[in-house]
Amino acid sequence: MRRALDTVVVFLLLPSVLAFTPLPAVDLAIGARGVATNDSTCLAIQQAISSASSVYYPSDPQYSQDIWHFMNSSIQYPKCTVEPGTVQDVSKIMKILANSTSPFAVKCGGHASNQGFSSTTGVLIAMTRFNKVIYHPETSTADIPTGVIWDDVYAALEPHGVNVVGGRVSGVGATGVTLGGGYSWLTNLYGLTVDSVTAFELVLPSGEVVEVTNDNKFRDLFFALKGGFNNFGIVTKFTLTTYPQGQIWAGLILYSGSHWDKLADATVDFQNSNTDPNANVLPSFNQYPNGTQVAAVLVFYNKPTAPPGLFDKFLNVPSISQNVTTRSFRDFILSIPSNAEAGFRGAFKGVSLAEFSPGILKTILAEIPTWSAYNGANSGVFVSYDMEPFLTSIPKHATPSAFPHDKFASPMNIYFAWTSPDSDGAQMQGIEQTAANIAAAAKAEGQDIDSLTLYPNYCLADTPLEKMYGNNVQRLKSIKEEYDPLNVMGRTGG
Ligand SMILES: Cc1cc2nc3c(=O)[nH]c(=O)nc-3n(C[C@H](O)[C@H](O)[C@H](O)COP(=O)(O)OP(=O)(O)OC[C@H]3O[C@@H](n4cnc5c(N)ncnc54)[C@H](O)[C@@H]3O)c2cc1C
Ligand SMILES: *[C@@H]1O[C@H](CO)[C@@H](O)[C@H](O)[C@H]1NC(C)=O
Ligand SMILES: *[C@@H]1O[C@H](CO)[C@@H](O)[C@H](O)[C@H]1NC(C)=O
Ligand SMILES: *[C@@H]1O[C@H](CO)[C@@H](O)[C@H](O)[C@H]1NC(C)=O
Ligand SMILES: *[C@@H]1O[C@H](CO)[C@@H](O)[C@H](O)[C@H]1NC(C)=O
Repeated sequence: MRRALDTVVVFLLLPSVLAFTPLPAVDLAIGARGVATNDSTCLAIQQAISSASSVYYPSDPQYSQDIWHFMNSSIQYPKCTVEPGTVQDVSKIMKILANSTSPFAVKCGGHASNQGFSSTTGVLIAMTRFNKVIYHPETSTADIPTGVIWDDVYAALEPHGVNVVGGRVSGVGATGVTLGGGYSWLTNLYGLTVDSVTAFELVLPSGEVVEVTNDNKFRDLFFALKGGFNNFGIVTKFTLTTYPQGQIWAGLILYSGSHWDKLADATVDFQNSNTDPNANVLPSFNQYPNGTQVAAVLVFYNKPTAPPGLFDKFLNVPSISQNVTTRSFRDFILSIPSNAEAGFRGAFKGVSLAEFSPGILKTILAEIPTWSAYNGANSGVFVSYDMEPFLTSIPKHATPSAFPHDKFASPMNIYFAWTSPDSDGAQMQGIEQTAANIAAAAKAEGQDIDSLTLYPNYCLADTPLEKMYGNNVQRLKSIKEEYDPLNVMGRTGG
């Protein structure tokens, strides 16, 4: 089934992009690779867990569901998958894994853009049964179990008229976004997702289950988990501050390539002139191997109507289609057809800029045709460059975190999609090179980007720790040494 460009749809997200060939969310035909129903670790887990939990092998349909990833290149084929149903079972599983030499992985929404982060050739722990979001009106917090996607979180909270600082499009896992940092539609108002975490429930590599907060003896872990992903144990739940949420004005606008210069101007202008934390935009510039260029701009205002003029620079550019309207927050998230572009191989590579200057936008627009041709020559599907012009005041919300974000950085993300595993090397080289070109242009115009950390959720697997965690690396290593001296979590990758 193909959809015409003007009825569309689009894209996605963050890396937004148009997806013209929606793929089934899950293909059950993966079947029998690496069949090993006699794997001793899988068997030990199977024998230890309660009836609330299950182990699946490659011939089970549920195995294919469990290994699903947004990007096909992030998939690996484990010996078995495990769906724990209780924290006690997670603890038992952890003890068995710690006592083994088996590689393993833990997965929430499966949107990691690197293989081996939430995929493995050993035991894959799929957290999907951790799915009950609980709102606590008395403390204005919500408990988020680590098997849910943000769609589920918004569905649970919307009836109460509250929201949390979470993912910007449909389908993304709550846990990876949170453990990596978390850029949201509400970031201009409240900071990153990590800044509104009040507690984590964590299964340590020892199997001990602990409540981690800023005010108890696990203060170091509280800091470490805010950007530290799966390095310190398996998180089973986290608690987020909730904020009142009413109707919003938001939607998606698609533009053809002939108006990109105007959209680049609009992006720079929005960054330089907007001071209203309710307002946000996410412009992304995409090109297909056949040369077709489409920009997808998400506009957002956290009230039912936007102030006159604020978005005019975008609204006045002739569009292919637009769907900007007053609606609920959840309706907006669900209207963004991000899932339609799942199923390709892909990579994310972020660049942290001091600002989206006219020169940087010009450089980026010039990179796109070059790298689209390169992408196309290597089983390419599209290239996508997105700009995230947050308010420079967001560091005032920053809390002490493994991922330092107390100095302002404008994130941008590059996303290449392709189909053939044979193209993995070439595509990775290409995305590295275009990111390096943009970084070089920023430095050439005087941006001090070497002092800015990279957003961990937009990094390739080989990114040096210092680039993401800056001066925190030593402290994180000593926290790791304390809680995971045998480096059990090192067998998870990522
Ligand atoms: C379409 C799309 C849209 C996106 N939109 C946004 C956005 O709006 N804002 C943003 O900030 N980022 C966004 N991202 C990037 C996103 O933050 C990362 O891809 C994130 O890691 C995905 O989380 P997940 O739970 O889906 O991933 P997973 O692949 O399931 O997990 C990601 C990482 O978290 C670890 N992890 C998962 N569960 C646990 C657990 N219980 N305990 C310990 N470690 C765990 C995994 O081991 C892995 O290292 C987007 C990505 C995509 C593909
Ligand atoms: C650890 O593994 C060994 C052999 O691999 C096994 O005999 C022992 O019972 C295991 N201990 C636990 C606590 O699982
Ligand atoms: C180019 O490719 C896109 C995505 O596959 C498709 O929708 C579009 O119609 C194509 N355009 C032309 C001119 O062939
Ligand atoms: C546009 O938004 C409306 C209102 O939320 C929704 O019903 C409709 O499905 C959306 N259309 C598209 C193409 O997203
Ligand atoms: C992605 O993986 C699924 C499941 O293995 C498969 O059905 C699909 O064809 C793959 N997509 C591409 C573009 O290779």
